[in-house]
Amino acid sequence: MAQNRKKKIGLIGGGQIGGNLALLAVQKSLGDVFLYDIPAAEGLVKGKALDINQLAAVDGYDCRVTGTTDWKDVAGSDVIIITAGMPRKPGMSREDLLEINLKIMTDVAGNIKQHAPNAFVINVANPLDAMVFALHKIAGLPDNMVVGMAGVLDTSRFKCFVAEALGCSIRDVEALVLGGHGDDMVPLVRHSTVGGVPLTELIAKDKLDAIVKRTREGGAELVGLYKTGSAYFGPAASSIAMAESFIFDRKRILPGAALLKGQYGINGYFFGTPVQIGAGGIEKVITVDLNDAEKAELEKSFQSVKKTVDSVKL
Ligand code: LMR
Repeated sequence: MAQNRKKKIGLIGGGQIGGNLALLAVQKSLGDVFLYDIPAAEGLVKGKALDINQLAAVDGYDCRVTGTTDWKDVAGSDVIIITAGMPRKPGMSREDLLEINLKIMTDVAGNIKQHAPNAFVINVANPLDAMVFALHKIAGLPDNMVVGMAGVLDTSRFKCFVAEALGCSIRDVEALVLGGHGDDMVPLVRHSTVGGVPLTELIAKDKLDAIVKRTREGGAELVGLYKTGSAYFGPAASSIAMAESFIFDRKRILPGAALLKGQYGINGYFFGTPVQIGAGGIEKVITVDLNDAEKAELEKSFQSVKKTVDSVKL
């Protein structure tokens, strides 16, 4: 019987999110992990790899983590998740990271082009939509093989706050956040349900408005609490959900930043909408039917993304 070879997962960036990604990837048996960072962080990636390998016996998983500072080790990865870049600090917007993170992304994307051009690449670095745009262009990746992680994270935050407000299980919350990963993102209240009941029938308008605001500011709330950086558990789990759907051909429909080709009247920009992820990468880009008010909100979100992307000089 033909044996499937173990998948290879390259994690670019050995910080807090990178470490969580490595742990989740092996715990979920996604494949062997190569945790890469620059030579100055050699001890960090080698230490995290050893630490995770040493606990493999506890849960009995067979995938291994290798810490590396050499792109050759990442070569031929099936999946790459990019977290390399600076996180924001209190008082900063994600857009404030553009200049510094674009430099880092230029290096990372060039190495992906050289060493892992066939990988399915998931970007976490901010400002997210602009970074995916740059990654796609510089690495020359096929349109279906690159995605931004944030829709899963933003949607998960929205669901969390709804479940908290109702004191109900999050499993029964169905919700979606569209648009760019910024303060203008669009939590779709009208389309959301809990146990099949429209959200608007369960939560009063003023409380729903507060949930929408808190979702939009979900990243900033954590930046304010952590003070020295930004979220790391949520971004890791969200990226792993996408990687898992690709590796096991689950064909899940997850919100992510995909290259739009006319959807919502947008062309040539990465923007958050539901996508189907399977062995073929992004197998479908799905649009949501919006009313005029929602269309106006989405357009506002798009104009913010466009402004940042249009300022990117490659
Ligand atoms: C998030 O939403 O948690 C990330 O984009 C990090 C940030 O700066 O908010």
